[in-house]
Amino acid sequence: MRVKLAVTGGKGGTGKSTVATNLAVLIARERKLVLADLDVEAPNDHILLRAGLENEEPVKIMLPFIDYRKCTRCGACAEVCDTGALVLTRDKTPYIIPRLCSGCRACYFVCPEKAIIEGQRIIGYTYHTRVSMKTGSFDLVTGVLREGEEHTPPVVLAARRRASKLAEDVVIVDTSAGTASHVAIALEGAKLAIAVTEPTPLGLHDLEAILRILDELGIEAWIAINKWGIASSEKIINRITEIARDYHAEIKAKIPYSRDIVDAYVKGTPIVEADPSHKVSMIFESLAREVIEVI
Ligand SMILES: Nc1ncnc2c1ncn2[C@@H]1O[C@H](COP(=O)(O)OP(=O)(O)O)[C@@H](O)[C@H]1O
Ligand code: SF4
Ligand code: SF4
Ligand SMILES: [Mg+2]
Repeated sequence: MRVKLAVTGGKGGTGKSTVATNLAVLIARERKLVLADLDVEAPNDHILLRAGLENEEPVKIMLPFIDYRKCTRCGACAEVCDTGALVLTRDKTPYIIPRLCSGCRACYFVCPEKAIIEGQRIIGYTYHTRVSMKTGSFDLVTGVLREGEEHTPPVVLAARRRASKLAEDVVIVDTSAGTASHVAIALEGAKLAIAVTEPTPLGLHDLEAILRILDELGIEAWIAINKWGIASSEKIINRITEIARDYHAEIKAKIPYSRDIVDAYVKGTPIVEADPSHKVSMIFESLAREVIEVI
């Protein structure tokens, strides 16, 4: 099952989850929908939707153990480990630092003595919750990276797979900020991506970076400028228009800065549900219409 819509963009706090949850509520009125929160380091769609984290499943990766009775201290395992998780003491005894291990198995394959044993470790969890709104319901899948862990891609992948398995029709993914490899994993296979940006110099920089990635992945990109009105000088607006033109990405929505969005966030009810006639809700409504026509 392909991801049909990805909501992505710049730094944290730009409004990706606000856009993703409001669109999910609207699109779920017409289509069978799964929303996947793949911002595994700081997932918050469940908060915006006042939904619990239910049906927990662990995400495990391989963790090597060393059988010191077999180990000849040749050092080959440490040489092949590129994360710094396998270190040698002065007498070349190998030690593993679990937090740094990505579970790539390179050490396991390279050990000439078969002294490395495959174990497992939990690095995060995925959850599946049914979200009920006044106007319809949909499934929410959330990936959560365990505190202190550094390897996000396996958790993003596990949450993405769980969402795909559940999906009968549409999958919307809400990605984390930036352009790291786990964002590309979240975006892969999307038919359409909405790049959410703020009309600020930092917003411009991040917008260009994400549009470049979308271009490389061959994903159609639309732009939603959020918090329209904050610091939006003519210079910035002209630059967004230029960037949009350069990357063939249409500016589809300008969502004003509104205290009511913050209030909706605090209450855990998306604004399109709390106040359908609000001017911001109308903007989301029109964006959702356009999305439905494409996905
Ligand atoms: N148009 C807006 N006007 C005012 N506040 C907004 C707007 N869009 C988002 N916010 C607020 O900004 C914060 C971050 O939004 P969020 O959607 O979680 O961002 P992201 O997912 O990009 O990290 C939240 O408190 C949210 O209520
Ligand atoms: S599994 Fe990979 S990352 Fe982990 S210790 Fe072995 S080589 Fe290093
Ligand atoms: S590769 Fe195997 S034998 Fe060599 S140091 Fe590592 S665990 Fe020991
Ligand atoms: Mg978010």
